[in-house]
Amino acid sequence: MNTEPMFSSIAPRYDFCNHLFSFGLDFYWRKKTASLCCNQPIEAALDMCCGTGDMAFALARTGQVKTITACDISLPMLDCAKCKYKKNQNRGQLPVSVPINWLHCPAQNTGLPDASFDLITCAFGLRNISDIDGTLKEIHRLLKPGGKVCILEFFLPQNKLLRSIHQFYLCHIMPLAARWIAGTPGPWYYLAHSIEQWEKINLPELLAQASFRDITVHPLTFSSVRITAAWKE
Ligand SMILES: C[S@@+](CC[C@H](N)C(=O)[O-])C[C@H]1O[C@@H](n2cnc3c(N)ncnc32)[C@H](O)[C@@H]1O
Repeated sequence: MNTEPMFSSIAPRYDFCNHLFSFGLDFYWRKKTASLCCNQPIEAALDMCCGTGDMAFALARTGQVKTITACDISLPMLDCAKCKYKKNQNRGQLPVSVPINWLHCPAQNTGLPDASFDLITCAFGLRNISDIDGTLKEIHRLLKPGGKVCILEFFLPQNKLLRSIHQFYLCHIMPLAARWIAGTPGPWYYLAHSIEQWEKINLPELLAQASFRDITVHPLTFSSVRITAAWKE
C-alpha cells in the first residue's frame, strides 16, 4: 500500500493527534531512542520517514550529532517539519549548530551515496513501507562500516490483558476520537491494522538477513513500543 497520500492528507493534524493519542509519550519514546543511538559523537545521521521532524529534533538535542539529513516521501509532512525546524531554532529549542538537510525521497531508494552515515533512525516509519527488505538493504548500503540503525516501532504488549486493552484503544477509541478531532478516522483504522500486520514480522530476523549484526530489542511502555538496534559489520 502506498501510504503517502494518507500521510500527506493528515500532515497539518499529525502532530496534535500523535501527542494526544499517545498522551505525550511519543516525545519520551523518541528521546529514549536518541539517547540510545547517540551515546558517542556522531558525524552524520539520517532520519528516514522523518514526517514532521520530531525524531530528527530529538537527535539534534542530544548534542552528539554534527549533521542530520532527514527524508520523507510526503511533501506536506516535510513542509511541516521545515516550518517547525525554523520555529524551534528561533525559540532556542534546538542547537543552532546542527544543520538539518530535508530531503524528499522514498526510504527504499534515497539516491544518496554509499556509506554516507554513522547512524540511521526510523521512527514509526518502516511499518508503513511495503518493501521492508528493500528498505533494510538501502539502510545497510547507506551506513558506514560500523554504523548503527535504530528502528522505533509500535507493537502489541505481550501481557494478554494489556494487549486486549491496547487493541480496544487502537481499534475503537482512537478512530472514534480521530473522527471528531481530525475529521476522518481512516488513518487511525489503518494504524490499528498496520500494527497487527507488523506483529507478524520478525524484525530482528529481517535485520540479520540484511547482514546486520548485534541486534538488540529495547521494549518501552509495556512493550507497546520497541527500539530495535543493529550494526553494520
Ligand atoms: C507515522 S509517520 C512517522 C513520522 C515520524 N518519523 C515520527 O516519528 O512521527 C510515517 C512517515 O513515513 C513516511 N513514509 C511512508 N512511506 C514512506 C516511504 N516509502 N519512504 C519515505 N517515507 C515514507 C510518511 O510520509 C510519514 O511521514
